[in-house]
Amino acid sequence: MVNFVRLCSFALVLVPTATAFPAYSSLAGLAREELDKILPTLEFKQPAPPPGPLNDTGVKLINDAAHPWKAPGPNDIRGPCPGLNTLANHGYLPRNGIASPAQIIAAIQEGFNMENSFARFVTYAGHLVDGNLVTDLLSIGQATKETGPAPPAPALVAGLDTHAVFEGDASMTRADTFWGDNHSFNQTLFNELSSFMDKFGNGGYNLTVASEFRWQRIQDSISTNPTFGLIMPRFFTVYAETVFVINFFVDGRMTMNRTLSKDDALGFFQRGQFPDDWHRSGVPSSTEGIDTVANAHHIRPGSNTNGVNTYTPDPTSADLSPEQFCLIYVNFVNRNVKSLYPNPTGPLLEALNINLQRFYDSVADKCPGQQQFPYGKPQ
Ligand code: HEM
Repeated sequence: MVNFVRLCSFALVLVPTATAFPAYSSLAGLAREELDKILPTLEFKQPAPPPGPLNDTGVKLINDAAHPWKAPGPNDIRGPCPGLNTLANHGYLPRNGIASPAQIIAAIQEGFNMENSFARFVTYAGHLVDGNLVTDLLSIGQATKETGPAPPAPALVAGLDTHAVFEGDASMTRADTFWGDNHSFNQTLFNELSSFMDKFGNGGYNLTVASEFRWQRIQDSISTNPTFGLIMPRFFTVYAETVFVINFFVDGRMTMNRTLSKDDALGFFQRGQFPDDWHRSGVPSSTEGIDTVANAHHIRPGSNTNGVNTYTPDPTSADLSPEQFCLIYVNFVNRNVKSLYPNPTGPLLEALNINLQRFYDSVADKCPGQQQFPYGKPQ
C-alpha cells in the first residue's frame, strides 16, 4: 500500500506541470530513475545538529504575547499531530508547517518540555521515514497547495500524514486511513472521547480515560477496518500518544492529579491551541504512564490479516517490554527505513547516514553496541 502511494505520488510528479518537486516532500520509496530526475533539482543541506537539553527545564508561561495563536493560512500545512499543530499555530514552529528536525526538537522541548533524548528519538524517526533528508525539511502534514483544496488521494506531499510508516490506525481523534482522511480532527471521535471523560474521568482526561479509550479505539478498528494494523512502530506510538495528553497538555502548575479538562482537550485536538495563560510542565517528560495504559487491556502487536475481526498477532514485531526497546530501534532501521531506501547513493546516502547516526545517538545509552549500519559503516 505504501509503495502504491509512493508510486502514485511519483506519477503526479511526472505529470507535466510548472510545479517543481517540493523541497519538503519525502524521497522515501522512490525508484532509482525517479531519484535521478529529482535529486539534481534539490539543494543538499548539511543537516543541522540537534539541540541539547534545555538549560532551564522549569515551569514556564508558553502561551505568551510573543506566541499568539493564529489560524493556519490556506497554504500552511497541518497534520495528524495536535502537539506539532499547536506549536505551528503559536509560532514555536514555522507557521507554514515545514521545519528541520533541529527546529522540531527545539520547539517540542521549549513548548512542551519533552525530554531531550526522547525528543531526538521521535523526531529522527519521523524525519527518516517522512522527511526530505537531502534538504533537511519535514512537513508536519499534507500539502494541499499543489493539489488544490480537495487533494486527490494520494496527495503529492503527505509528510507526517503518510500512512503506516509513522502515522497509524486507531488514533483517538483522527479516523483510520481506510476511511479516507487520517489527519483531520474528527468530531464524532472526540464526542466518544468526551463521553469516556464523563464516564471514567469526572469530565476530564486522565490515565483511566486514556486506558479505556485506547482499548475502545483498538476494538473499534479491529471490528470495522479490514486493513487495521498495529505493529511497530505504531504499537508504540498508539500508546505513547495517549499519555502525551497528560504529560504534555496538562498545565505545568497542576502537579497533583494531572487531568486535562474537556475544553482544553478540544483546544489542542481541534484548533491546535494552547489554553489561555498556559504553562508547560516543569518536568522533562516522555512516555511516563504508558505501562499503565498498555497493561489495562492486553493485546499483542498484530493486524487484521483477512478482513474485519481477523486480528492476528505478529511475533516478529517488538512489543513494549523494556527488554524489547532496542528491537524497536533495530527493526525500524532495518525494516522501515531500509525498505523505503533500498539502494541510496550520493547525497541521499550521505544524508541517510547522518540522520541514522542521530537516530542511534538518541538511544545509544540504552542500546550500547547495537548500532545498525544498513548501508555499511560510513567511511
Ligand atoms: C511534545 C511533542 C508532541 C506531542 C505533545 C504530541 C502529541 C500527539 C498526540 C496526542 C497524538 C494523538 C492524536 C490522536 O490520537 O488523536 C499525536 C499523533 C501524532 N504525532 Fe505527535 N506529539 C508530539 C511530537 C511529535 C513529533 C516530534 C512527531 C514527529 C516528528 C509527531 C508525530 C505524530 C504523528 C505522525 C501522529 C499521528 C499518529 C496517529 O495517530 O496516527 N508528534 N501526537
